[in-house]
Amino acid sequence: MCGIVGAVADRDISDILIEGLKRLEYRGYDSAGVALLDQGKLSIRKEVGKVAALEQALTSKQTGHAGIAHTRWATHGKPTELNAHPHFSGDKLAVVHNGIIENHEALREELSSQGYQFVSETDTETIAHLINHLMQQGHDLLAAVKAAIPRLEGAYGLAIVHADEPDRIVCARSGSPLVLGLGFGENFLASDQLALRQVTDRFVYLDEGDIAEITRDAYAIWDHNGNTVERPVERITGNADSAEKGNYRHFMLKEIFEQPAVVKNTLQGRLGRDHILEQSFGSAASSIFDKVQSVQIVACGTSYHAGMVAKYWIEGVAGIPCRVEVASEFRYRKFVVSPGTLLVTISQSGETADTLAALRLAKELDYTATLTVCNVAQSSLVRESDLALMTEAGPEIGVASTKAFTTQLTALLMLTVALGRRYAIDKAQESEIIAALHSLPETLASALTMDHDIRDVAETFADKHHALFLGRGIQWPIAMEGALKLKEISYIHAESYPAGELKHGPLALVDDDMPVVAVAPNDELLEKLKSNLEEVQARGGQLFVFADKQAGFKNEPGLTVIPVPHSADIIAPILYTVPLQLLSYHVAVFKGTDVDQPRNLAKSVTVE
Ligand code: M6R
Repeated sequence: MCGIVGAVADRDISDILIEGLKRLEYRGYDSAGVALLDQGKLSIRKEVGKVAALEQALTSKQTGHAGIAHTRWATHGKPTELNAHPHFSGDKLAVVHNGIIENHEALREELSSQGYQFVSETDTETIAHLINHLMQQGHDLLAAVKAAIPRLEGAYGLAIVHADEPDRIVCARSGSPLVLGLGFGENFLASDQLALRQVTDRFVYLDEGDIAEITRDAYAIWDHNGNTVERPVERITGNADSAEKGNYRHFMLKEIFEQPAVVKNTLQGRLGRDHILEQSFGSAASSIFDKVQSVQIVACGTSYHAGMVAKYWIEGVAGIPCRVEVASEFRYRKFVVSPGTLLVTISQSGETADTLAALRLAKELDYTATLTVCNVAQSSLVRESDLALMTEAGPEIGVASTKAFTTQLTALLMLTVALGRRYAIDKAQESEIIAALHSLPETLASALTMDHDIRDVAETFADKHHALFLGRGIQWPIAMEGALKLKEISYIHAESYPAGELKHGPLALVDDDMPVVAVAPNDELLEKLKSNLEEVQARGGQLFVFADKQAGFKNEPGLTVIPVPHSADIIAPILYTVPLQLLSYHVAVFKGTDVDQPRNLAKSVTVE
């Protein structure tokens, strides 16, 4: 959730570190800090708030040829300067850390009894003192880190510098990603390659349990057994501009408008004229799919909502049993694995701690195989799953997930067809769905033309404190996603319900100050939905209905209709997502919140 950057070079690296932090800021942004080594001296600067505050605070004299930097999303201890990273021990050693050290209390007690003074409330400070303590016993920095690692329980991506070894950064990965960036006469490290795209396009991803060191001219990696290992050098040449806002006011808006293009990219090369190319899921996909009798989906947040939509497709269209569960619950519950079950994880980042833990747990159980739908090719989920279908959304910077969700849905519909052609989907239906998928980018582009109308409606929401989102059938998870978007970025309390459930309790909330948003495609549940909405109108509720042009809704007092272009039923959930994203976006802009970096949240949740 936090971000790490490090660099060793002949030139001053302070600007490289700051630029790297800015690129990682979407991951965590409540404080930031940098540790610089210059002529054998360590200087540390930390600031509460965003990276810009740190940048301003750095004086022209604070330069260095080696250094580490961090942007934080608080886990242990409030976002204060003392709790910000880098943490130090003495005046020579500094550490930055992503993750959580679970045995930090025991370590703190042990190190305190040896005379180490703690100045922060963080778990990370124990790592600094532990490594320092081991160096006092005669180890150099690398040997001290190697000796410290077995003592740490929990998850970490770590980078450490010491003033007596000014040309070296040591780093370690377990449960939190780290990548080395290779330059010429200079080397780098970061928790995400995005942070280093301004200085290199050559990357080496560390594996779980790896320890590494970088110097100006070299790098070395040791695996969890202490053996020297080579990891492949990967060249990443894609467009790094996705990390730029361009002419858009916010990343979120840019990402909403990118959806026709990134959905097209997700479909590209995976669709024949009338069938899905199964090899897109991996070379073993066809033989694995032949064995699948049921599906278990595990994910968090928006990705979980994508899984909920997929359940309707996989059971309703493919005819295969499908269960969906939030990863943080799944991993701690006893459950029964039915024979022939495919475990599917869904994740934008591929590093979400709960989802990753669920995958690792599943690998020890009797699942037939594991498959991930993921947006980051080098992520842990992709590396550790048997099969993967990459969403081609490009980097998603806005904390509120938008294009990642619609590309996940696109990928999951492809999965539905690939599995379902072995069950309930016949040739004719397969080519019908493929045709609908081919039409999807254009359909999404037509939804974007609703932007102005939605902006007008959004103003009404700006002074509200609560909102209800309703849908029926496959549109219920879309209503859930709409409610999540609104609460995430505008801080308006929003609940979602299957519309038929309203009369069982939530109807009591409805009054003339409660906007009720409904998604109403022209499907087989339309008449049922209309009756539910009449229950709302009868109680003075303010209805905002995103309705198919042929659904027969008309504007009247208490009922605002926002017409949505027509689409094939099967892709309607993807289509109706877009206006709800735009609604949340414009409400947040009217409210003046920090759209791309909403309070208390982080982009990639790599802690439990
Ligand atoms: O990277 P993941 O898709 O695994 O992340 C899961 C959730 O943390 C994420 O979807 C979160 O709910 C977003 N902020 C929603 O907009």
